[in-house]
Formats: sequence, structure tokens, C-alpha cells
Amino acid sequence: MRILALETSCDETAAAVVENGTAVSSSVIATSKEAFSHSGGVIPESAARQQIAAIHPVIDAALREAHVTHEALDALAVTRGPGLLGSLLVGTMTARTLAALWKKPLIGVHHTLGHLSSTWLERNEPCFFPLLALSASGGHTELWLRHAHTKGELLGQTRDDAAGEAFDKGASLLALPYPGGPSIARAATSGNPKAFPFPLPLAHEETSDFSFSGLKTAMKYTVQELEAQGIAPADCLADLAASYQHALCRHLVDRVERALRLHPEAREVHLVGGVSANTTLRSLLIEALDGRPLLFPTRFEFCTDNGAMIGAAAAFSFAEKGKRAFRHFTTAASLPSTDVFGEQD
Ligand code: KG4
Ligand code: ZN
Repeated sequence: MRILALETSCDETAAAVVENGTAVSSSVIATSKEAFSHSGGVIPESAARQQIAAIHPVIDAALREAHVTHEALDALAVTRGPGLLGSLLVGTMTARTLAALWKKPLIGVHHTLGHLSSTWLERNEPCFFPLLALSASGGHTELWLRHAHTKGELLGQTRDDAAGEAFDKGASLLALPYPGGPSIARAATSGNPKAFPFPLPLAHEETSDFSFSGLKTAMKYTVQELEAQGIAPADCLADLAASYQHALCRHLVDRVERALRLHPEAREVHLVGGVSANTTLRSLLIEALDGRPLLFPTRFEFCTDNGAMIGAAAAFSFAEKGKRAFRHFTTAASLPSTDVFGEQD
């Protein structure tokens, strides 16, 4: 099944041609992140305006790079939500229009299902259900026990900030550019992760939930205390970044370990979403899993928002649900996690 998939839920404008949910014939991503590097985050209207200009050139490039025309497509897919409404509308209106003109079926995909499907892209070996998936991005942080591509249970989620958001807010406190994840990872390279003792959130709570706002507040107070002592945070930037990154990762790993104790039937662990690009997190998880397979997207560009993951999710939905995957869908800025798989049997 050859799908042209669009993803425009945040500031990226992405299109990809994906075969059978795994082979990526093309993946084109235009981003306006540069424009927001000093504003601390995305400005929604500005992002949507840039996406209006970018969407058709990006689609044309994806078809060209895949060496196909629209006649060769079996279906279109698009992120239906959650995300920034203006940005989502650019993608879904374009997809609806092209699907009608080209007479192709259209599959609406929950953004999180896209991330959850990203581990299959360009992978030759199969993945095995049931599996535990940690999806951590700028908008959500969730632990899923997945029984199939379109079936799973939510074990826990963040009670406040998302993990990526905690990286972004921490970076902003350290005057590092947006997006904060890569900025903090870069600054942390030469730092000591034990220099500043940040707390381990929810350490004594029997829950698979997450909480990151306390770490962000701890960082704020640490910076204030340093300044009160006449020490510029910039002078210990590497140690601050390394300690903060370590604390965020330790919390994520701690929750995965707990979930595995409760669900030993999970045959492998998947790490997806923008934060899965973090190599410290990957190393800490590999260490903690003690031989149980850890899978993350095969390319860094499949960790952060991209069209290919939406194409993968759409193909697997069609494989498991047949034509029910083509059901009418609405475009929505907020969608509950219960909608991730669409209708479950
Ligand atoms: O999945 P994504 O591209 O967009 C959303 O769905 O939100 O995730 C973006 C988030 C941002 O918060 C960014 O700071 C974070 O992922 N991120 C990282 C890294 N690369 C991106 N966080 C930690 N380490 C990274 N290397
Ligand atoms: Zn995302």
C-alpha cells in the first residue's frame, strides 16, 4: 500500500511517501523552528502562515523524490490532531482537497499514533506485541501497553508538563535557544550530571504517571540561588544542563522500570517522540532494561515530527481495520488519549 502522508500539527510541514507502513520512499520536512529559536516557542499564527506557503512545494518534493505521481498512490493520510489548530487545518484541508480531486481514500491519524508507529519505519526485522511504548514529545508524555497496531491501553501520562516541554522550559531558563531538547543535550556534553542534585519526581508514588513541573521549578530556583551568590548560570552551564537532562531522563527511565515490573509480558520496549532523539535517555534505558530489547526510530528525523510516521500509522490501521480506517474524521486541536487508536473493537 503506497500512501502520501502529511503532518502539520506543530511548526513542521512534512510530507512522505511510505510503502506498506515501513519503506520510506521519500520524507520531506520544512520547518520554521529557526524563526522561533529566540521566542522560546512556536508562535501559532506565524507557523500556520509559513505552512500555507510550504505545503504544496513539500508535497511536490515528496512525490518527486519518491519518483511517483498521484496516480500511483493508494491513499492519503494526514494528522487530524492534536496540535495547533491553524497548522492542523493547513494539513487536513490540503489532504481533503487532494483526496477529493485525485479520488483517493483519506485516513485521519492521531498524532500520537504516528509517533507510536515510527519504530517500524525502515526496519527490516519485525516488532513483537505486546510491547511497552514510551512516547515523549513536546505535547505529551505517555506510557502505553500495545497489543496490536490499533489496540493498546494507556498505563500512565504526565500530570503537568510534557517531557519535551520540560526540556524547552529548562532551556529557556538557561537562555538556550528553542527547541530546548537539542540545546540542552549539546550544552550538557562536557557537564557533570551529578553536579546539581535535582529530585526524582513521584519517587514514592505507586503510579505510572509522570510529573515534570517540579523539575522545571527546581531549575528555576537553582538558577536564582546561583545568581544570589554572584555566580552567573552561564559559568556552570554544562553542569546545569547535564544535571537537568539527567534528572528528566532518570524520571522517564524510573517509570518504564516500574511499568515493566507490573507488565512483565511486554516483549520489547519502544521509545518514540521528539525526546527519543536524546542519546543520554537511550543509554540510560538500555542500561536499565538489562537485555530486554529497546527500539527507537531508525533515523533521528523519525523521532521528531515527520510525515513518514503518519503514513506508517495509516497503513497499519488499514491492515487491521480495513475500510473502517477511511472513516470520516474531524480536525481537532485537542483530542483525548482514548482517541489514539480510533475505534477499538
Ligand atoms: O515530537 P516532536 O517533534 O513534536 C511534538 O509532538 O511535540 O517533539 C518535539 C520535542 C521538543 O520539546 C524538543 O525539545 C524535544 O522534542 N526534543 C528533544 C531532543 N530533540 C527534540 N528532547 C531531548 N533531547 C533531544 N535530543
Ligand atoms: Zn510529535
